[in-house]
Amino acid sequence: MALLTQAPKGTQDFLPDVTPKLQYLESTLLQTANLFGFVEQRTPTFEHTELFVRSVGDTTDVVQKEMYTFEDKKGRSITLKPEGTAGALRSALEHGLLNGALPVKVAYLTPCFRYEKQQAGRYREFHQFGVEMLGAGSPAADAEVISLVCQCLDALGVGDISLEINSIGCPKCRPRFHEALRQYFSQYKDKLCPTCLERLEKNPLRILDCKDPSCHEIAKNAPVVLDYLCDECGDHFTGLKKRLDAMGITYTVNPTIVRGLDYYTKTVFEFISNKIGAQGTVCGGGRYDGLVEVMGGQPTPGIGFAMGIERLLMVMEANGAPFPPQVTCDLYIATMGEEASVKASQLAADLRSEGFYAETDTVGRSLKAQMKYADKIGAKYTLVLGENELRENRAQIKNMKTGALIDASLDQVVDKLYEAVLESSYIEIAESQTLEFKE
Ligand code: HAM
Repeated sequence: MALLTQAPKGTQDFLPDVTPKLQYLESTLLQTANLFGFVEQRTPTFEHTELFVRSVGDTTDVVQKEMYTFEDKKGRSITLKPEGTAGALRSALEHGLLNGALPVKVAYLTPCFRYEKQQAGRYREFHQFGVEMLGAGSPAADAEVISLVCQCLDALGVGDISLEINSIGCPKCRPRFHEALRQYFSQYKDKLCPTCLERLEKNPLRILDCKDPSCHEIAKNAPVVLDYLCDECGDHFTGLKKRLDAMGITYTVNPTIVRGLDYYTKTVFEFISNKIGAQGTVCGGGRYDGLVEVMGGQPTPGIGFAMGIERLLMVMEANGAPFPPQVTCDLYIATMGEEASVKASQLAADLRSEGFYAETDTVGRSLKAQMKYADKIGAKYTLVLGENELRENRAQIKNMKTGALIDASLDQVVDKLYEAVLESSYIEIAESQTLEFKE
């Protein structure tokens, strides 16, 4: 029976006490991206497996160990998106977006799936907010994308996150670095995990981000990529740092960042929080100048990032970042009898069409139980409708905080409530200003 009442391992439900926070977070992220010209793009939750094998890379943990892959009924190999970049680029290529004005700037919110060991901040289904900028190869584009992350974090009131940057070179300088890695790791063949032993020949860079503790320990003293950059990659990295300095964006250069996906070239970066435990990377991204070509398009530079929504929420909560107040019921209409209930349905509909949050009884509770419910949902005002009120076509709107009563004809309820809400919000503003003044 547990299968019927327990979500699969590594997944989670977002309940009504959390979803308003997620909606706020997601709309703030998309609006901030709009300020930089990124517009939302939606792509399917699953793609052909080959897309991820080719783009993310067949020597990565994601492709080798973590993908949710299955055959559909016609025997096609399908994979649930482990990340957002590959689908975003596939879609841009399929729909000819790169034939229009460059750079193409897309943003996305997407579920992602990776079969990973579950722990705080690491799930098998998680959500990413990401952007991709295609067709801009300059360090100015890198700075713009990084500054968008900073502005998103600022807009959400998240401080205390550090930015780490690195450059992992390009196909011109990579072979020399790979050779140095091969030489270094060859001394430790007996200590590397079987996957890394295979990687040693095929793609030694991947050993640097293996999660196996023994490989991780050995990787600590491995050669660092910054010592092997070609002039072009070195100049690009200098250009980025110059711009970040000019924009007042604080960063540290961390030469051990290599990222877990194969498509990166030149700039890579991560935003890290120390408030949410071991899985502190809230955002990761970088440049992928060869990826469009790998996918069959014309050579086109690209850069982007993705933030983990769950981790972002954890950081916001850990930092005490502000969330908008929960929406509460403006008017609860309590009723006695069938006729009053019919009138209440009509009144509630009128109120809602004017933008008020109104509720009335739908379960046949006693008046006392209805008032208790109104209290429980924090209704700001209540109104009781019974035989008398219907006969006289009048009722009293009660302010639940002050107990003040407002007499209203039943045709005036919307107007009277509007006046009352306006008045109490003036009072609230005045009170908060007095408080600020006293402080
Ligand atoms: P990534 O570093 O694999 O990059 O993932 C980006 C972010 O997704 C991470 O920093 C983390 O916040 C979140 N994340 C990853 N795995 C999990 C998980 N198992 N549970 C919870 N959150 C997770 C990418 O996916 C690249 N596509 C980013 C990118 C876009 N690079 C260029 N453009």
